[in-house]
Amino acid sequence: MSESQIEQAVELLRKGQVVGIPTETVYGLAALINSPEGISRIFSTKKRPFFDPLIVHVSSKKMAETLTTDWSPLADFLAEHFWPGPLTMVLPKAARVDPMITSGLETVGIRMPKHSLALSLIDRLEEPLAAPSANLFGKTSPTTAEHVRSEFREENLLVIDGGACEVGLESTVLLIKRKGEQYQLSVLRAGHVTQSVLQKSLGGARFQFSFTEDIDRRQSPGQMKHHYMPEIPLVLVRNPDLTEQDIRQIAQNKIQELPDQVEGVQIKKVKRVNKMAELVLPSDPVLSARLLYSELRRLSENKSLDLLFFKMMPEHEQEAWLALMDRLTKAASLVLK
Ligand code: TXA
Ligand code: MG
Repeated sequence: MSESQIEQAVELLRKGQVVGIPTETVYGLAALINSPEGISRIFSTKKRPFFDPLIVHVSSKKMAETLTTDWSPLADFLAEHFWPGPLTMVLPKAARVDPMITSGLETVGIRMPKHSLALSLIDRLEEPLAAPSANLFGKTSPTTAEHVRSEFREENLLVIDGGACEVGLESTVLLIKRKGEQYQLSVLRAGHVTQSVLQKSLGGARFQFSFTEDIDRRQSPGQMKHHYMPEIPLVLVRNPDLTEQDIRQIAQNKIQELPDQVEGVQIKKVKRVNKMAELVLPSDPVLSARLLYSELRRLSENKSLDLLFFKMMPEHEQEAWLALMDRLTKAASLVLK
């Protein structure tokens, strides 16, 4: 089944089509990096603005080296330790990388996904695949093949079914800059590979590095204020003292005042809050990450609901929850403090 799907995918990708692919993080919408037609089809299918760069997926370190002008000892070390896996490294781009992929930036995001079907597809193609998450721009990311199919019903898209994603949240995006032996690192997007984990493994290898907060938004143009929005408005409740009645009332009033759009992303609103449902996640952050997007999608299917809410607890302040809280904050129409 999957073998014949891979054959079919190879053929379509070589013709400049896009294909849904499984990875361990979320499903991707892939095109060959040397197919301008395929790359532009990614943007049009997702309704994604061109300022948001794509991640390039490889199946070997050797393939990654062809995409950058500076495959440094530190990049090599991180690839050795974290690939295949949910770490994207942002490195100076090689000339062969189409500027459409990088939104005109001088850097390119590269990662090796930890999924046997994705890896064998890239191996068969002998070329990297550019792939953003396979959802419409600003919407909840997909963690099953069915999520992708339902997101693009009209497109008649081939989606390689690789089961439910194990990680469930997008990869950590790490910007790597260097001057000689000195490295400056910035986590542009939090993910399963946390800054402490990176710090610990690099420290053991005696690299000269420091982490900085990269506040230049040009370095990470995809980091919009809103993203991952479910079909029913979500409220993130940061104040533990609020009762359900409070949440209903405050949300009812405040949600009316929200703009319809922020940075091109449509904000989910509702006129009257009658029926609400609480998004409940397990106490384990790894399990919660795996479930988050499918729970948001499942709850949103209940058309009798007006509002979803999530209650933030003190433990959610810990680093292990950082990626998940980042996604929830962006998915929320409103945050109650
Ligand atoms: O786990 C993942 O990374 C998934 C799977 C499919 O691999 N992909 C994914 O792609 O999340 P996407 O397009 O939804 O998010 C890519 C984000 C961009 O929005 C941007 O923030 C960052 O990665 N990015 C990509 N290239 C970059 C670059 N050259 N400089 C800075 N940020 C970059
Ligand atoms: Mg995305």
